[in-house]
Amino acid sequence: MTRTPARPFRSREWFDAPGRSDMTALYLERFMNYGITPDELRCGKPIIGIAQSGSDIAPCNRIHLELADRIRAGIRDAGGIPMEFPMHPIFENCRRPTAALDRNLSYMTLVEILNGYPIDGVVITTGCDKTTPAGIMAASTVDIPAITLNGGPMLDGWHENELVGSGTVIWRSRRLLGAGKIDEEEFLRRAADSAPSAGHCNTMGTASTMNAISEALGMSLPGNAAIPAPYRERGQMAYETGRRAVEIAYDDLRPSKILTRESFLNAIRVTTAIGGSSNAQPHIVAMARHAGVEIRHEDWMEHGYDLPLLVNMQPAGKYLSERFHRAGGVPAVMWELLKAGKLDGGQMTVTGRTQAENLEGREAKDREVILPFDKPLKERAGFLVLKGNLFDFAIMKTSVISEEFRRRYLAEPGREGIFEARAIVFDGSDDYHHRINDPGLDIDEHCILVIRGSGPQGWPGSAEVVNMQPPDALLQRGITSLPTLGDGRQSGTSDSPSILNASPESAVGGGLAWLRTGDTIRIDLNTGRCDALVEEAEIARREGEGIPETPASNTPWEALYREKTGQLSEGGVLEFAIDYRGTSKKVPRH
Ligand code: FES
Ligand code: MG
Repeated sequence: MTRTPARPFRSREWFDAPGRSDMTALYLERFMNYGITPDELRCGKPIIGIAQSGSDIAPCNRIHLELADRIRAGIRDAGGIPMEFPMHPIFENCRRPTAALDRNLSYMTLVEILNGYPIDGVVITTGCDKTTPAGIMAASTVDIPAITLNGGPMLDGWHENELVGSGTVIWRSRRLLGAGKIDEEEFLRRAADSAPSAGHCNTMGTASTMNAISEALGMSLPGNAAIPAPYRERGQMAYETGRRAVEIAYDDLRPSKILTRESFLNAIRVTTAIGGSSNAQPHIVAMARHAGVEIRHEDWMEHGYDLPLLVNMQPAGKYLSERFHRAGGVPAVMWELLKAGKLDGGQMTVTGRTQAENLEGREAKDREVILPFDKPLKERAGFLVLKGNLFDFAIMKTSVISEEFRRRYLAEPGREGIFEARAIVFDGSDDYHHRINDPGLDIDEHCILVIRGSGPQGWPGSAEVVNMQPPDALLQRGITSLPTLGDGRQSGTSDSPSILNASPESAVGGGLAWLRTGDTIRIDLNTGRCDALVEEAEIARREGEGIPETPASNTPWEALYREKTGQLSEGGVLEFAIDYRGTSKKVPRH
């Protein structure tokens, strides 16, 4: 039985052009080298790409090299033809000067592949932080049927009977090292134990957050985000995703039918409920803008801030991915939100059904890990949006602000939520590392550590450097965290009380450029203001002194990235690329 696709497959233009056998022969012959026959390519089956993000230098996603066989089997069994190709790799921890440079690069190269080859639908393999937004951004630009599959988080890490999670163990162990409580060897053992298997970070860091967001957007099969990489269900999910990719190609279920403003607002809500990474902010804005959806600064407050934290997972809570998966994963969290009337259940998803239909019967199975909406881990746990004389936009992840912090920085007794601190300003992370233990800086528990030159233009790429730890002398006295502020980002696995993604950044003349060590910074969590208490005339004088220097571009891409990329508040996207959407409507000429 032959099925008729809802829209003719674009691969027909390559392989089945009447009167152009010279052209089609040229296109057809080389695929025989690995076993695909011309007849098969001409018979009208959809060609389903597998965008392979795993490799030896992208170890978080490496399991996709094996999962690809299961994806292929699913595609074949459902009547499609798989074609696997590499995505530009992104490895968060290892890429210098920062993996953030690669999100837009991976995006742009994936657009060229999806647009320029005979592909009718695509499985985008994701995992490590930026692989998910890069893939979804590209799927929107081209607008062909697309579905994401992540490789799954690692198994839970254990060190001497204590749960140790990716990234979070590093920040916590650094403090122990600084306080002289552990040595370098023990530090390495703790880090190694946090990574017991294949997979991406097992905390609710940026990887788990972004894969949860793909589910919230409706771009992956329900339950996909949290299944640990080595579990049997991970292979089954890969197979089912391959099958489904063929169906969405026939149904012409494209990202533009799924990625609506309401689905992005759902993603913002889910980010709060899971205690998601602060990197969700630029990535959600970037994906939305490429989908033609506007996410305003106020949306984070109006739709995300007041919601509770429901997932008890590091860094905001206690547990790790395996337990989260067994508790029901992302569908169980969305089910809580839906029941409480905080999710738009009417949004279409890659299953061909709505969110509400997908979520039926997905109640949590472990209430220590996924809490009920009316008995959450924390109330009002979303990103607080701040502005003031230092920047127009920054966020603070409130789910990780401790009681100790709240007491220590209270500006006046009884004035809840108003804090004051003395600024210690660093120009980039080398400067921070050189000077943080300098006694001359006189850093005490009433200071705020500020880092600048770490935004998209300054770094370049925007670096995860805002989660700075206090000097050793303070750690030894038991002061384990200081508030921080910066125009860079911070790791999603960090529990530091930070004001980050400050835009505009100092490198383009944002207010952090004129801030000086010793200035008092006042933060009002009630009104979302953050100001340096410096007179206007003095600000003008300092502005005349210029912008702190940042390193020159070292590669052609760094230079191009700087030329074309906007601020984190606007998603840090290649601004010109926003104008291209739905390129698959027009097949490129022969
Ligand atoms: Fe790749 Fe965390 S470093 S997922
Ligand atoms: Mg990260």
